[in-house]
Amino acid sequence: MNDKTLLMIPGPTPVPESVLLEMAKPPIPHRSSEFSKIFDEVNEDLKWLFQTKNDVFIFASSGTGAMEAAISNLVNPEDKVLSLVIGNFGERWAKIAESHGAIAERITVPYGEAIDPDVLRKRLDEDINKEIKIVTLTQSETSTGAVNDVKALCEIIRAHGAISVVDGVTSVGAMDIRPDEWGIDVLVSGSQKGFMIPPGLAFLTANERAFDVHKKCKYPGFYFNWSSYKKSLAQHTTPYTPAINLIVALHRTLKMLREEGLENIFARHKSNAMLLRNSLREIGLKLFVEDDNKASFAVTSVYPPDGVSVSDIRKILKDDYDIIVTNGQNDLKDKIFRIGTLGYISERDILTVVAAIENTIKKLK
Ligand SMILES: Cc1ncc(COP(=O)(O)O)c(C=O)c1O
Repeated sequence: MNDKTLLMIPGPTPVPESVLLEMAKPPIPHRSSEFSKIFDEVNEDLKWLFQTKNDVFIFASSGTGAMEAAISNLVNPEDKVLSLVIGNFGERWAKIAESHGAIAERITVPYGEAIDPDVLRKRLDEDINKEIKIVTLTQSETSTGAVNDVKALCEIIRAHGAISVVDGVTSVGAMDIRPDEWGIDVLVSGSQKGFMIPPGLAFLTANERAFDVHKKCKYPGFYFNWSSYKKSLAQHTTPYTPAINLIVALHRTLKMLREEGLENIFARHKSNAMLLRNSLREIGLKLFVEDDNKASFAVTSVYPPDGVSVSDIRKILKDDYDIIVTNGQNDLKDKIFRIGTLGYISERDILTVVAAIENTIKKLK
């Protein structure tokens, strides 16, 4: 049977039908009062979802674009960046920093684990000359399914004085994250995740401390320059042609999310992820991140049972049930598979995927 695909990956995530229909309408001109009205509402709703009083800039790019925009607007060549790496996306921060001429130092942990706040505190205490300018970290590490304690880590970074730059790509709109309250200086995310729309928009919010550093940045670049987005936003528009139909779609999903309420959104993600985790344990599967307190509610990584390959599980799920789950990345390829519970996913979807996995394993054994 066609056209009944259940996308259970950590992005892109399913898009509600009403939103797809909204997107199918012809684009409206972006230099118009009609667009500005939608854009203003989107900006207000984004501040609500990001739990910040600061502007949230919207770029026409994937999430990595916002990561690049975070680094390019802050670093000067030879600046020291400390990257807290718990998986591929944490490593991406270090690579981006190096590509902008910064010197990246990494604190790494075995994949599946999170950063120990005491280890970070110790490293920053050693930095008596305050050479470390920026610390990058990831909340929900999509490559492993582990989460960092962003609140604890950002408190330590603030006490040192460096700028904290946080990847909230698979956590904003799914798990609690409070930039203003927790002292996060820069936070980024992407549209194909908790926002329930297709890929193509990236988001970035930066506070005054970050803007002070940005003002001293010698080569902030052109397309992603924060100052241009800030200036245009005050004029109810964007510096360049925005991804109009995606913003129209976002306008609708943000209303849906507002109606649900932040507490309920976070509770839904937690209960869906826990239902999935406990059901997988019940059918005898081992989770890559065993400790529920260190697990992302956006993505769950699972070991295949002995003698069964990840590729066979994914193939049967796709061919027989039209359900898509994803493989591990890099070193974890074929060692784990990952199931997304992010965005427009319901309890029914969780029950369906667990039953399909159970049947798949029976077929393969
Ligand atoms: C945690 C995390 N950070 C960054 C990215 C990169 O986003 P994109 O693929 O949209 O560039 C992803 C994408 O999956 C992600 O999950």
